[in-house]
Amino acid sequence: MLQAHIVGTGSSVPKRVLSNNDLQNIVDTNDEWITRRTGIKERRISSNKRDESTSDLATKASLNAMEMAGVSPQDLDIIVVGTVTADRQFPSTACMVQEALNAENAAAFDVSAGCSGFLYALTTANNAIKCGTCKTALVVGVDRLSSVINWRDRGTCVLLADGAGAVVVTAKKERGGVLSNHLKSDGRLWKLLFSSNGNSYTPEILDDLDIIPFHLKMDGNRLFKRAIGYMSDIAKQALSQNALTTNDLALVVPHQANIRIIQGLANSLDISMEKVYTNISKYGNSSSATIPIALDEANREGQMTMGDHILLVTFGAGLTWGASVVRWSI
Ligand code: ACO
Repeated sequence: MLQAHIVGTGSSVPKRVLSNNDLQNIVDTNDEWITRRTGIKERRISSNKRDESTSDLATKASLNAMEMAGVSPQDLDIIVVGTVTADRQFPSTACMVQEALNAENAAAFDVSAGCSGFLYALTTANNAIKCGTCKTALVVGVDRLSSVINWRDRGTCVLLADGAGAVVVTAKKERGGVLSNHLKSDGRLWKLLFSSNGNSYTPEILDDLDIIPFHLKMDGNRLFKRAIGYMSDIAKQALSQNALTTNDLALVVPHQANIRIIQGLANSLDISMEKVYTNISKYGNSSSATIPIALDEANREGQMTMGDHILLVTFGAGLTWGASVVRWSI
């Protein structure tokens, strides 16, 4: 049986840093509230003027991951992109990335699963590798939530951000790599987090706050309550299926939505925060991108070594949630 091994990671974030103090000039908020309630100090916001569209960010992250993996664009059999903020309604972001990379041999498509997009995309690639239809996959998580933020809503605009992360996954006979994927969704709860209309308008942030024709709506309190329970339950199922305990984990890489959610998850799993990777203070919540960006940073910082067990765990609009256990192969 072929196993899907992660052999390269990459990420790309926009240049523009929007600090909590900057946000004070936009909505009635302050650094103390945002830091205490969310753990976020600053976030990255993209601009089309700087080649930071969804497909631009995804392409840059992909190139970094492919360089680490030592694979060429022609090696890619599939490109799967998790996103809810594609540049266009169609074609897919994945096809635009395919063009930018010159990855002529790949089949390219997007998956939409809210902030869980990266784990849904990784699962799709893993399944394609396991059933033998694909040897090398590029998996991307990318979002520009700034394009759907209502910059008048202080309850959401302080949380959300832009960015991209990617991994290259290859088929190997050795046991390891992606050991399991658990995915769940509950469409009855879609109204807890949704975009009010359309998906093709990407205004330049702050140019004209009042012309945004659609935006994100969120019931933060109800999401908060579900996020910890759902992530914790699915993480426990994932560990149990692999006959692992939290003691066996080198690192947990959770979706970065709110530091209090991450701390609640760590509590519920009875794992020290030292083993939980967080970078929410500098990047905020970039939806599908948070896990692959965090994974790339942890990898480049040398936080995991070959053979380590890593738990990826996510939660997002849909509602969707999921967990993947990975034995590190780099
Ligand atoms: N600055 C200052 N005050 C604020 C702000 C702000 N930015 N936002 C809200 N407040 C005020 C509220 O108006 C309220 O005031 P009131 O008591 O006078 O009515 C008070 O702060 C408390 O508001 P709550 O909404 O109860 O604050 P809470 O502690 O629940 O934190 C938050 C809000 C941060 C949104 C939290 O509920 C949360 O993180 N929820 C989960 C969100 C989430 O995970 N979303 C993403 C999941 S999917 C994805 O990643 C896209």
